[in-house]
Amino acid sequence: MTTNTAGDLYILLISIHGLVKGQSPELGRDADTGGQIKYVVEFAQALSKDPRVRRVDLLTRQITDSKVDEIYSRQMEKISEKANIVRIPCGPRRYLRKEVLWNYLDGFSDQAVQYIRRAGKVPDIIHGHYADAGYVGAQISRLLGVPFLFTGHSLGRIKKEHLVQKGMIMPKMEARYNISHRIDAEEFALDTAARVVTSTAQEVEEQYKKYENYSPERMVVIPPGVDLEKFSPFAHAGAVSTIRGEINKFLSDSKKPLILAMSRADERKNIETLIHAYAGNEYLRNNANLVIIAGNRNDIKSLEKGSRKVLTNILLLIDKYNLYGKVAYPKNHAPEDVPEIYRMAAKSKGVFVNPALTEPFGLTIIEAAASGLPVVATNDGGPNDIIRNCGNGLLVDPLDPEKIGKAIQSVIEDRHQWKIYSKNGLKGVKKHYSWSSHVKKYLMMTDKILKKGAYKRNVMRLSKSRLPMVDRMIITDIDNTLLGDADALKEFIEYLKIHGEHAGLGIATGRRLESAIEVLSEWGLPIPDVFITSVGSEINYGLEKVEDRTWSHHLKYYWKPELIREALGELAGLRLQPDIDQRKFKISYYLDPENAPGRNKIISHLRKHKLRVKVILSHNAYLDILPIRASKGLAVRYLAMKWGLPPERILVAGDSGNDEEMLRGNMLGVVVGNFSSELKRLYGKPRIYFAENTYARGILEGIKHYNFFGEQIKTGEENVY
Ligand code: GLC
Ligand code: MG
Repeated sequence: MTTNTAGDLYILLISIHGLVKGQSPELGRDADTGGQIKYVVEFAQALSKDPRVRRVDLLTRQITDSKVDEIYSRQMEKISEKANIVRIPCGPRRYLRKEVLWNYLDGFSDQAVQYIRRAGKVPDIIHGHYADAGYVGAQISRLLGVPFLFTGHSLGRIKKEHLVQKGMIMPKMEARYNISHRIDAEEFALDTAARVVTSTAQEVEEQYKKYENYSPERMVVIPPGVDLEKFSPFAHAGAVSTIRGEINKFLSDSKKPLILAMSRADERKNIETLIHAYAGNEYLRNNANLVIIAGNRNDIKSLEKGSRKVLTNILLLIDKYNLYGKVAYPKNHAPEDVPEIYRMAAKSKGVFVNPALTEPFGLTIIEAAASGLPVVATNDGGPNDIIRNCGNGLLVDPLDPEKIGKAIQSVIEDRHQWKIYSKNGLKGVKKHYSWSSHVKKYLMMTDKILKKGAYKRNVMRLSKSRLPMVDRMIITDIDNTLLGDADALKEFIEYLKIHGEHAGLGIATGRRLESAIEVLSEWGLPIPDVFITSVGSEINYGLEKVEDRTWSHHLKYYWKPELIREALGELAGLRLQPDIDQRKFKISYYLDPENAPGRNKIISHLRKHKLRVKVILSHNAYLDILPIRASKGLAVRYLAMKWGLPPERILVAGDSGNDEEMLRGNMLGVVVGNFSSELKRLYGKPRIYFAENTYARGILEGIKHYNFFGEQIKTGEENVY
């Protein structure tokens, strides 16, 4: 079991889409580079500062594209003493929007596993952010046997509801957003997660609740932290910002209190209603200025459709209400300007307004509070929690401009109340929303998870997988190789216990998974690290039998089971095996050698039907048809690649035809003494050892022959000059 000693915690965060970098993240540059990016980077930094944490890696996608900064192509970027951004290649090198990343995520998982192997330590916790990294994180945490945490950030089922309301039809939604894919990924992540980390209670009750794998006992609310060094009423020495001038040049009387709105130029942020509210309130028009910070732009015409519409409407409204000299809407601002903008508004005795239609998070409200700026915010989840915790302002109905105007007026007009709001915000944020309180709560949770070790349904129960750490691996067939002689098997198990500390154990069999497990436990064998079953058409790992999904995806290629059955129905001497042995990627027959055509005839028959498959004959009695990409041999090679083991560190053992492919090639092959005649073909081939001994004793003989557990493994090439 994993125990996490002080100072030894290794946390792996995954956040795949968008542009992720440590210094001045390009927030608001596009829809994928926003609050989540800011959160994960700052979170990684804050976590790494805790003495209990040894290391934090933030995995994201590597992007090499002249359209974006070169930094996104770097493999590693240090973002604090113990934290790094690690960029993993995934699909094409260019920058892609998150909706089209789905097909590349299995590749991301594989590369991430290799990274972990190179790093030389399995993380204690894996935490995936958003559906895409939720999928990847769930997958690798299952593979590695590490507890998984999930944060959805925003959820597909909610998005789908909004889009349906707007009248978008399903095919369009799928084409544009791959919405079902996203929801499936979220379900998979929720199903795997030891805990789901959310920022508000409302998210849990109104959003996650819509999921099949909703289980409230696994959900924790830990509000996001804000950088209190950056956001404070006082600029620290050396901070220079030109934004003040940029704002003031719009205003005829820049001394009036500022009503500040800051968000992406997104329809859901509801900036237009705020302009109506301001224009409709005489007190505000005369006594306050409005500042709208809505992302960056060079030419509104070249913005994407949504932002273009919002910004155009803003300009039209300013003109319609003739708000010239009263509203500032600077074209550009840098991330460093943001704290200064809040400070400016606080100094003016102004107010921050967040009129968004929905606001699960509300980070800007926390930033405003940290700057001593009172708020008026939409009456929704995030703001609800924040204002309840801090008492730093008022909640409003985002669809009611008149009430919004009145609320803003009351905050600005009553100077005494203004001061109370301001002070409450400063105090409340320190207590509830500082990074240190976020990290504290987070580590309390991870501590519990790691100490418990045993989780409920579907959540990793076992200790971490050994696979990333083993430096060699034995893969053996079951029937007539590993099993068949009980005493030999006992010897084999003992020997492995004593000498095989660094070796992983896998089995590769024609049996299906359940039947393999059954027979292994009948014979008293420990659960292996890997199961290659159904003649290599399925791969699963460890106690939890975690499916290797990359492998299954890989096999779909050219696989046409109905057509295969039809074609083989035309041949004599073949009888389908029972249904239970027919698998997704394996069709199996009993073959009557008297009447059936030979293997080559069967292959050419299938080729005539334009069916490209793998045909495997064992003991001259079993015929298996597999996808061209499947076989025990290919499965073993795939595993070697995935887990980063060179072929000469893999010893394979078998006795019959379906073992042939894995025995051939660069891996170290052992054919047990009781082999079946098909394998005579392998006589004299390099790196294939024919043992004298039978069954498990034959494998042992092979291990000794290659000196497989020794420091110098003998591959047979040593004597060749
Ligand atoms: C096992 C399987 C069977 C397969 C045979 C040869 O007996 O149950 O379906 O045909 O191995 O690979
Ligand atoms: Mg066998």
